[in-house]
Amino acid sequence: MLKKIFLIAAARPNFMKVAPLWRALEMGSTILQPILIHTGQHYDQNMSDVFFDDLGLPTPHVHLGVGGGSHAQQTSGVMLKFEELCLRDRPDLVLVVGDVNATMATTIVATKLHIPVAHVEAGLRSRDMTMPEEINRLLTDSVADLLLTPSADGSENLRNEGAAENRIHLVGNIMIDTLVHSIEKAKSLETFLQYDVQPQNYGVVTLHRPANVDDPATLKRILDVLTQVEIPLLFPVHPRTQAVLKQNNLIETCGLARSQIRLIDPLGYYDFMNLMIHSKMVLSDSGGIQEETTFLNIPCLTLRPNTERPITITQGTNEMATIESLPEQVDRILQGNWKKGTIPELWDGNTAPRIVKVLEEFLTK
Ligand code: UD1
Repeated sequence: MLKKIFLIAAARPNFMKVAPLWRALEMGSTILQPILIHTGQHYDQNMSDVFFDDLGLPTPHVHLGVGGGSHAQQTSGVMLKFEELCLRDRPDLVLVVGDVNATMATTIVATKLHIPVAHVEAGLRSRDMTMPEEINRLLTDSVADLLLTPSADGSENLRNEGAAENRIHLVGNIMIDTLVHSIEKAKSLETFLQYDVQPQNYGVVTLHRPANVDDPATLKRILDVLTQVEIPLLFPVHPRTQAVLKQNNLIETCGLARSQIRLIDPLGYYDFMNLMIHSKMVLSDSGGIQEETTFLNIPCLTLRPNTERPITITQGTNEMATIESLPEQVDRILQGNWKKGTIPELWDGNTAPRIVKVLEEFLTK
């Protein structure tokens, strides 16, 4: 009898984590049957559909269509719809990834229905409770049955919080599976040429954290520093950031049209990877980009006060940055004076098959 696995996808950073899991479950297991559920947190063509196309994901079997809204609206919306689905079509296990609202919402619903949950990317901690993702991580990990960690520091965090050893499995970084799978194609595209920049002579910027973009004064201070950078900066703008730019007329006030900053629409997976691969540096407040740049050995500045991914600093090419520290750090990168990183253990492209093995053992014991 096949074991039914609900695989949960909700927002952009989930899709590149779900894709290798989908493949490994669909093709690499005779016991497990994946069912893909999209909660609908991200819904624009360039925030969702393009990733399904790029990454070879099938149309989701179920689309909960919950959409945006406040945290409570998103969380409760997913909980109500997901509970109905679980009651109607009970899975043997729910597989969640990352730290978005739906990760937590679906975990709580499943746990209360006594359906086991496995969390991919467990154990990461920023210790910053002002980040919604940290709350999602803590709540998810406190009840999930299987805690699948990307690196040893994640496993250690869980032990320190008292998680039983048999729940913790160090499996490696799932997002790197997608990168390994896609890198040749991503390299071969000519996306960056469309923006009239030279390889190794431009930067890539992404900003979407509420702490950086929700307050227009803060966003303006960041943009004022970025306009001083000497090389072109390609900046695919997240819908959250786009709204603040527009409503506050920041494109004009910050003189972006006269600067080296090129605002562009959000890109698909391959196009964005192509921009990163050929860039001199990346400046971002994303979680996953810290890991991708470490794997690619590209200097990364993370504009945040803390990170849940410290291994990208101790072992990789990432440094934390503030608005004040940025100019000096950018200078160091432009002068070629940056650390050489190494790739962390088990960031090797084979995390998904390791996860399938853990799930099979768990469900057949
Ligand atoms: C969410 C995640 C964050 C992740 C990010 C990646 C949570 C708590 N946050 O933040 O961890 O790093 O996704 O993007 O889950 N919007 C659109 N079109 C879309 C998607 C969003 O217009 O396709 C709008 C929403 O309506 C909302 C804003 O963008 O007004 C923010 O979206 P939301 O999903 O609430 O949070 P993100 O900032 O994307």
